[in-house]
Amino acid sequence: MNETITSSQFVFVTIAVTALVVLGIWSMWTGYYWLTAFMAGILVTGLFFTRILYNLARHLYTGVIESSKGTLEFSFPYKSHAQQESARLRQVTAAHNSSSSQQAAKKIQELEIMLKEHDLLNEHLQDINSQLEMVVTERTAALERSHAARRNLIANISHDLRTPITLIQGYTETLLDGIASTPEDQLKYLNLIHARVLRLNRLIQELFDLNQLESGQLSLRIQPVSATNLARSIYEKYETDTQNANLSVKFISPDSEPQLYPKDDTIYADPDRIERVFSNLLTNSIRHTMPGGTIYIGVRFRRLPSAPEKIAALFFVQDTGDGIAEEDLPFVFNRYYQSPHRDGCKHSGSGLGLAIAKEIVTAHNGQIWVESQLHEGTTFTFSLPLAAPSF
Ligand SMILES: Nc1ncnc2c1ncn2[C@@H]1O[C@H](COP(=O)(O)OP(=O)(O)O)[C@@H](O)[C@H]1O
Ligand SMILES: [Mg+2]
Repeated sequence: MNETITSSQFVFVTIAVTALVVLGIWSMWTGYYWLTAFMAGILVTGLFFTRILYNLARHLYTGVIESSKGTLEFSFPYKSHAQQESARLRQVTAAHNSSSSQQAAKKIQELEIMLKEHDLLNEHLQDINSQLEMVVTERTAALERSHAARRNLIANISHDLRTPITLIQGYTETLLDGIASTPEDQLKYLNLIHARVLRLNRLIQELFDLNQLESGQLSLRIQPVSATNLARSIYEKYETDTQNANLSVKFISPDSEPQLYPKDDTIYADPDRIERVFSNLLTNSIRHTMPGGTIYIGVRFRRLPSAPEKIAALFFVQDTGDGIAEEDLPFVFNRYYQSPHRDGCKHSGSGLGLAIAKEIVTAHNGQIWVESQLHEGTTFTFSLPLAAPSF
């Protein structure tokens, strides 16, 4: 193209110069010099504009070719449609690229947050896991303790049942063989048999009660009773038993604190069950107090620290016995629990008495607790709320 234009230009310039020369000769010949000058001016001007038009045409041509190839890189003063499109494409691509990188950064940020959350969740799960392991270990230990206690109980019960039965058998055979010939001897053996039968009866009753408590079938015959009268009647009932064990027994009357005596000392309770609680506590006191000791039975009235608007009857059994070691105190109400430190013990029990007492008191919406000093004595107290609390 360049060559074609160059040769056309050459032809055009040659023609123009030839025309000027011809016009010059003709004007000298004819004498029309002004016409020659005018024509020469037109030719020069024509040449000048031809140069501009030529350059314009050349740029246009190159632009079209380059943009059609997609390599528009020259500085052309007039932008073609393809150039404009290409520039727009570049802008869109740049914008797209920048928005893509922003999105990628956002995604990375989100991923980092997710990873942190995942780590936290993992730590939390590990915590829960170790807590669960601790619970499982504790439960397993508790289960093992309970199994061991049950095994102990079966061994104890077998022993406790067999011992009195063997003795009863021996005493009965003595009577049948006529070895105890005098009425005094016979009475003595009958009393021994009676004591063993009572012991057996108590043990069987405890097992029966525990079975009922464990299956939640403890039924209470609730009725309004005077707390003072209830405590006094129990004292009178067990006074002889306690004295038989060479122990002195005293009733601590609530009247000794008149300012703390309520207007109405009625409680709602099952008197037979409350007697059972007293009986279990007294049996323990008799068992753990050496002859010559004292047992106190009584009731007093106090406002409950947890609910001062309520007044409770506090029933207690106190002894001057061998006491309970501090390390044993938290366990005495556990089923089958028997203190390993019980040197002064006169009889072996089943380890159920206090557990049963606690179940009965709890069923009456009461509380039971123990205070004890080793070798000095023990006090068991249980509280039952008054029906009409006012002093
Ligand atoms: N008054 C008390 N004095 C000393 N120890 C007591 C007294 N009462 C209870 N204990 C201790 O609490 C344990 C649990 O009592 P309990 O449940 O009645 O079972 P048990 O009398 O059959 O052994 C007893 O074995 C004993 O070690
Ligand atoms: Mg007991």
